[in-house]
Amino acid sequence: MSTTPTAPAGAATHQWRGVIEEYRDHLDLPAGTVAVTLGEGGTPLVRSEWLSETGQAEVWLKVEGQNPTGSFKDRGMTTAISVAVHEGAAACVCASTGNTSASMAAYAAKAGLTPIVLVPSGKIAAGKMAQALVHGAQVIQVRGNFDDCLRMSRGLADHYPVALVNSVNPVRLEGQKTASFEIVDRLGDAPDVHLLPVGNAGNISAYWLGYKQYAERGRATRKPVMRAFQAEGAAPLVTGRVFPDPETKATAIRIGNPASWRLADAAAAESGGGFAALPDERILAAQAELARRDGVFVEPASAAGVAGFLQDLEQGISYAGRQVVVTVTGHGLKDTATALEWFGEVPQVVVDADIEAAAKAAGLV
Ligand code: F0G
Repeated sequence: MSTTPTAPAGAATHQWRGVIEEYRDHLDLPAGTVAVTLGEGGTPLVRSEWLSETGQAEVWLKVEGQNPTGSFKDRGMTTAISVAVHEGAAACVCASTGNTSASMAAYAAKAGLTPIVLVPSGKIAAGKMAQALVHGAQVIQVRGNFDDCLRMSRGLADHYPVALVNSVNPVRLEGQKTASFEIVDRLGDAPDVHLLPVGNAGNISAYWLGYKQYAERGRATRKPVMRAFQAEGAAPLVTGRVFPDPETKATAIRIGNPASWRLADAAAAESGGGFAALPDERILAAQAELARRDGVFVEPASAAGVAGFLQDLEQGISYAGRQVVVTVTGHGLKDTATALEWFGEVPQVVVDADIEAAAKAAGLV
C-alpha cells in the first residue's frame, strides 16, 4: 500500500495541518499540489495589555516567530516549495535578508530540492545564516545589497533550471495571506487596523489579498486599515524614491527598492492606510520593551509595527476604542547580537555556590 496518511491513526483530530491543508479551498494552487509542510501557521494571537492600555485600544500581537523556522516566511514557503515540486523543479533560489533563506532552506531540505541562497555579504543575522547552512543551502554572499541579490536571483531563474521562490512569485503570497484568515477566524471579523513592518513589501500585499478575499467570501464584514512601517534609512515606500544604499540595524528590512512596491501602495491606498518611517532607536526600544512587558521576544525588524504604534500615538494619531492587530514577524533568537547591544556590556553577575551570596546579588537582602 502506498498511501501517505496526513496523521497517524488515532492521532488527535485537532492537530494543525499547516496552512495548505487548513485553507486549501481559499488558495490558488495547481490542482493536485501535494503539501510540503513543516506545520507552519496557526500562530498565536496574544493580547498586549501594555499596548492596549497605552493606546486605549484593543491590541493583539500576531506572533509569527512561532512558525517552524521562526518567521512568517514559512507560510509562503510551504506553497512556493510545494508548487516548485509539483512543477518538477530540482533546485530553488532566493535573495534574502535572512529569513526567506532560512525558510527556503528548511522546506527545500524537506522536499529534497537543492537550495541556493543569495544574501548581502556581512548583513545577515548569525541565527539566520546558521539556519540556511544547517539545512544544507548553498549560501552565496554578494558584495551588494538585497536589491542586487534579487536582481541576480531573477537572472539565475531566467537562465538556469532553478525555481525562484522570492515573493515576486505569486504563489508565495497565496501562502502568506493565510495570516489574515487566521486573524479573522480567531477574532470573528477583521480588525479595525492592521500594523506591520514592510521591506520587500510581499507581506503587506499578501495580508491585503487575504483580507479582501475573506470579505468577498462573506467570512468578514469589513477590511482593516493597513498601516506599515519602515526604518528611516530604508524608507522607499514612505518617501516615494529608491534608496540606493539602504541602512538600518533592522537588517531584515534593509531594502531600498521593494519588488511589490505597486501592490503595497495599492494596499495602503485601498484600505485608507499608509506608511511611516522610524528611527532605528525607536525600533530597538520597542523590541526591548515588548520583551520586558509582554514576554514576546522578536527580532529588531519585527518590532517596527509596535514602534510605529507608539510613534503614531506620540504624534497624535488616535487608536482609542479600535481593535488593532500588530504582526510581529520573526523571533528574537534570530539576532541575539543586536539584542545584546541593548546592554552595552552584557551584565555578568558571578557568585560562589552559596545561597546567601545569590540572595544578595538578587537584591533579596
Ligand atoms: N520582518 C521580517 C522579520 C522580515 O524578515 C521581513 C522580510 C519583513 C519583516 C518584511 O516583509 O519583505 O514582505 O515586506 N524579509 C525578507 C527576507 C526580505 O529575505 O527574509 P516584506
